[in-house]
This record gives sequence, structure tokens and C-alpha cells, in this order.
Amino acid sequence: MKTATSAENQPLQSLDEVEDFYKQRYPEPIAAPADKKSTVGHDPEKKQSEFRNYEADARPTVREFYRLNHQFQTHEFVRAKKKEYLGLNRMKMGIWEAAEYLNQLVDDSDPDTDMSQLEHLLQTAEQLRRDGQPRWMVLTGFVHDLGKILCLWGEPQWAVVGDTFPTGCAFAPKIVFSRFFEANPDSQNPAYQTRLGVYKQGCGLDAVDISWGHDEYIYQVCKDYLPPEGLAMLRFHSFYPWHREGCYDYLLNDHDRAMLPWVLRFNPYDLYTKSHEKPDAVKLRPYYEELIREYFPDKVRW
Ligand SMILES: [Fe+2]
Ligand SMILES: [Fe+2]
Repeated sequence: MKTATSAENQPLQSLDEVEDFYKQRYPEPIAAPADKKSTVGHDPEKKQSEFRNYEADARPTVREFYRLNHQFQTHEFVRAKKKEYLGLNRMKMGIWEAAEYLNQLVDDSDPDTDMSQLEHLLQTAEQLRRDGQPRWMVLTGFVHDLGKILCLWGEPQWAVVGDTFPTGCAFAPKIVFSRFFEANPDSQNPAYQTRLGVYKQGCGLDAVDISWGHDEYIYQVCKDYLPPEGLAMLRFHSFYPWHREGCYDYLLNDHDRAMLPWVLRFNPYDLYTKSHEKPDAVKLRPYYEELIREYFPDKVRW
């Protein structure tokens, strides 16, 4: 990826390396929500995956990525990025236009085998459509990674992708590579190192400053247009410490608990649809343009 940020700040050759690492850690969908429509990733022949030390097996680039992420995602950093971006005063752009804009994000992945950004969005959405999921959920699949345009605006990889986690309270030990939090200045701040930190029990995730990245950004862009279930999918799709590891129960409110099955319902479409055939963007465009018009205005604020 060619951005203004320096190379040592950008250890990944491709953002897909992080997504591949999710798949190594979670090779099968969680058995939680009874989503009878889903045909993704369920293999009844497969037994429970045996325990593996994913951290030890991770590529050095992925390890370095998480080292930077855990070191620099402080409570203050998150609040500053929210201030910088969430006025949504950068540009006005339609949803399809944003997908094409994001597609300029070319990195060092292999164009023959790896998916482009647009292809990943279409593939996720197309699998949702094939499974007969609701139209708003197909659209949620189409927009879910548009927040990665942060990379085009010079944000380093560690501030765009990777597992997200609450800041301003103790880091859950189950977060991947949690030992790297030792280098995070917040680890030295006693006010941030209690279970609740700056939050109240059951305050709800909306009140929590979760590490900054493409999830929060696309949630904010779409907040007025999609139903709450779709918004939760957008906002928390990388919050693996919550939806796959079950951490931070004490911060949740009833709304978050009601949304969790939907976040889990979405996850397999994001993770396990990647290796199939490449979607044909030209052919699919009219369907998506119409679906976008159903929910979004022509131009959206970014
Ligand atoms: Fe994502
Ligand atoms: Fe994705």
C-alpha cells in the first residue's frame, strides 16, 4: 500500500494478512446463532479445531502489525481520531463511488489469487443474497469495509484494521498478542487499568471508546441509514474480543446483548467467503446501485 506513512509503520504487505490471521484463529463459525439461512463455513464433518498457538504461528509481519497496534492505540489516540474524522467533513461521495474509491487501495497482494477490496465487498454481499438474508443485510455486507478508505488518507495500517478493543479500561487478557499492551502508555495509567476504567458497569458499548479503525468510521458514516442490527455489524465486526472471546460483558447493556447474535450472524460472511470465484463488478453494479438507492441518499458525508 502506498501512503504517506513510513514503511516501518506499515508492516503488512496486504491488509488481507490480518484477515487471513482471523481465519487461522477462527477456522469455523461460532455455533451460536441459529441462522438457518446461512450456508457459509458450516462443515458438519469437521470436528472442533484443536488448540494451536496462533501467536507463535503468526507471520512476522502480522506480529509486528499487532505490536504497533497495541502500543499506539491509547484512549487519547482514539478520542483524537474521533474528533478528527467524525465530523464527516472530508468529502461527499455516493456508496458505489466510495467502493470504487476504496478499490484504488492497491497493496502487494497477488492480483491473480487475492481479492480486490471491491471484490471482497461484492463477495460478502453476494453470499448474503444467495442465502436469502434481508436486503439491508446484503447492503451491510457491501459497505462493511468501506471504512478502509482511512488508509488512502494516510492512516497507518494499525489504525485501520485488526481486532478492536475498548480503551480507557483494563485490556482483556484474551485479546490476541495481549503482551504487547505492556508498551501502551495506558498500561501505566492506574485510572485505565481497573476492570471498568473510565466507564460505568453496563454503560453500553456506544459509550465506550473502542480502538480506532475502519469499523467505527463506517458505522458513523452509515448511522442514519441502516437498521440497528446492520449498524452493530458494521461497528463491531472486528471486535473479536467481544463477539468471539466473550470479554467485556460488564460494559454491555441490553441493546448490545440483543445485537450480539446479529454480529455473529454476519461474521462468517466476512471471513469464509473469500476463496470462491471472483464476482463480476460490471454485471452486479445495477443491482447494488438500486439497493443503495433504497437506503442511502445519492451523496453521503465522509
Ligand atoms: Fe473489516
Ligand atoms: Fe471484510
